[in-house]
Amino acid sequence: MENPFIYGEVVTGKNLCGREDETKELLRDIRNSQKVLLFSPRRYGKTSLLKDIFINLNKKEFFTIYVDLYPALNESDFIKLLAKAFSSGITAPLYKTLNVLKDTFKHLASRLSFTINKEGNIEFDISLEKHDISPVLVDLLEGINSYITKNGKKGVIVFDEFQQVNYFEKDKVEKELRSQMQSQRNICYIFSGSKKHLLMDMFANPNRPFYKSTKHFQLDKLKSKDIFRFIKTKFQDTDIEIKDDLINKVIDISECHPFYFQYICHEMWEMSFLNGKVADEYLERSVDRIMERETSSYDNIWSLLSLKQKKTLIALSKILPQEKIFSNNFITKYNIGPVSTLQRVLNGLVKKELIDKVNNNYEILDIIFKKWIQRIY
Ligand SMILES: Nc1ncnc2c1ncn2[C@@H]1O[C@H](COP(=O)(O)OP(=O)(O)OP(=O)(O)O)[C@@H](O)[C@H]1O
Ligand SMILES: [Mg+2]
Repeated sequence: MENPFIYGEVVTGKNLCGREDETKELLRDIRNSQKVLLFSPRRYGKTSLLKDIFINLNKKEFFTIYVDLYPALNESDFIKLLAKAFSSGITAPLYKTLNVLKDTFKHLASRLSFTINKEGNIEFDISLEKHDISPVLVDLLEGINSYITKNGKKGVIVFDEFQQVNYFEKDKVEKELRSQMQSQRNICYIFSGSKKHLLMDMFANPNRPFYKSTKHFQLDKLKSKDIFRFIKTKFQDTDIEIKDDLINKVIDISECHPFYFQYICHEMWEMSFLNGKVADEYLERSVDRIMERETSSYDNIWSLLSLKQKKTLIALSKILPQEKIFSNNFITKYNIGPVSTLQRVLNGLVKKELIDKVNNNYEILDIIFKKWIQRIY
């Protein structure tokens, strides 16, 4: 039998827990051709949510383009990935697809060369000089818009891992995208990513092209009632008994973190599927196992931190719900230094994506890393 708890892969359909409200809101945005920045810390389920929405969208009504920018190192990569994602949405025989590309993109067509790979899909190669980038990009974005409109559809373009654009040498992509999307009333653009400080700099800095151009949508952790139902159903469906009380403990320990509740349950399921029952001690054993696997990467992170950063993380791993991090008591207890130093250290840790500001407090994002720190210090 297959383990129903999946971690480290995109999850959709029956394997997606909760997210009803978020789906509804994003569907409204898609219908309204809203431009959206979707962000959250890593592994909160942005890609899964977006892919699930795409699967369920009526393809007769919407033309969907999903671009994973993770491998994009420069502007030509961006263009190549967008062109490829667009072409994969055309459901026509290959020769027709090639004709569509030639007809739709006047500038781009002459610079594209195609090969067909073993799976029968089109592979692009593109030869671009630096001065070609802007006209080709405009051509591509305008072409996509007119193709979608001509086919009587609405469009949805997702740029996942959008922060990659920040590493490009120039801001041509940002500028052209911004000016194109402003005039496109028929396409919803969703920019998704996890590097908050980079995204905030792109989207909330008045000197950057994307300033105030999108709605900001922060994806939170999952709701405990959704996790409860999900865990109960998955164990039940695979004929394994689990006590409600233990499910609640999983929710507490995982702090509703989408990735970690799945990871912990995956381990617990592996321990129980032979005898059909989840024993209480499997929870702690699962957490231990996960921590063991992650230890070398935590060691690595730890060794690269300054003493003050370490002290602050130790303090944050022990903070009680009623304690205020900037209070005199707290600062003296952990010997961190004046408030200004603490603020600087916190900002550095946010940049490293180790912590995040939540409701005026700071939290360690990786809950197993937090437990690792608690155990050692
Ligand atoms: N709604 C959900 N239901 C169940 N599991 C989820 C959900 N969202 C996320 N997960 C779990 O978290 C893992 C990571 O999800 P996903 O890759 O979609 O997150 P992400 O936010 O796109 O991450 P990254 O920022 O690293 O790209 C999944 O493999 C799955 O185990
Ligand atoms: Mg993702």
